[in-house]
Amino acid sequence: MPDADYKQRDAESYDDVAGAFDDLADRYTLPVAEALARAVAPAKRKLIYDMGCGTGIVARAAAAAGPETKVVGIDLSDGMLKTARERARSAGLDSRVSFVKGDASATGLPAGSADAYVSLYAYSHFPDPDSAAVEAFRMLAPGGVIAVAIGSGPPLLSAAGAARAASHATALLARRRGLERSAAGNLVNHVREHLHTTDEEMIATWASEVRNPVSRLKRMIGAAGFTDLASDWTGRQFVIPTVEEFWTLETTLSTWSRKFMARATPEELGRLKAAYWEDCGKVLRQGGRLVYRIGAGIVTARKP
Ligand SMILES: C[S@@+](CC[C@H](N)C(=O)[O-])C[C@H]1O[C@@H](n2cnc3c(N)ncnc32)[C@H](O)[C@@H]1O
Repeated sequence: MPDADYKQRDAESYDDVAGAFDDLADRYTLPVAEALARAVAPAKRKLIYDMGCGTGIVARAAAAAGPETKVVGIDLSDGMLKTARERARSAGLDSRVSFVKGDASATGLPAGSADAYVSLYAYSHFPDPDSAAVEAFRMLAPGGVIAVAIGSGPPLLSAAGAARAASHATALLARRRGLERSAAGNLVNHVREHLHTTDEEMIATWASEVRNPVSRLKRMIGAAGFTDLASDWTGRQFVIPTVEEFWTLETTLSTWSRKFMARATPEELGRLKAAYWEDCGKVLRQGGRLVYRIGAGIVTARKP
């Protein structure tokens, strides 16, 4: 599929879920968004670009850091941009936070125009992330900083990584015994089982194909010309109390599932939902749990 068609379809898949996405971002993503904003020391910056800004959670966190800081959020989804503008207005930040429609690889924004660039959970959507990093380099002034976060588990050689490895076998066993379901792979399994899925590319494949997306991200940011590369990880685990909330979370966050569900007939969707409810309801009735693990590897660097 040509990149332009892919990008258009990816952005449109967000248009109708912007409200639900925004609620979930408030509930679960805020600490990660704040950590990402902190990574570029926002109070010291005059203009920050937030690439793939969605409903603006990072843009608002960055702008809140300093009265002189301006942020421009960039996204391809009209629905996400509309909600982002409404949220900035109701937070009283609309004089310092604005949003424009644009593609990460060709924004049309002036060269050297910003002193910081952030991006949360968006690079895995780009079919051509290397060119997005090159565009980031072009837009930043010398000395400008970049911080890009991508969904990832903790690094193996870290306390969080050791804890995750230690709990991995228990979680696997709990899943096999029907005592745990984990977002958003659980919905993906249900979609595979109940809907007609094809080999068609529904998500950018680079992030799922590499073993370590954080080191791949680091390499592409370095190749774009940035120096002083470093990476960090932040994340946490949430236990979701109801099947309804778990369904909303998974159907909103799983882009792959959303795209196949958008094509399904009402009957197919009805069957999928009934099976999902039965399965997750049974997990809860047996004393099990519905889990959402959120984590991000954050790569930071500087334009010399
Ligand atoms: C998972 S959401 C993340 C949104 C936000 N950063 C957050 O963490 O809440 C990914 C966002 O990237 C946007 N996006 C996807 N492809 C894009 C592209 N080529 N250029 C700009 N934005 C894009 C989508 O429209 C969507 O809003």
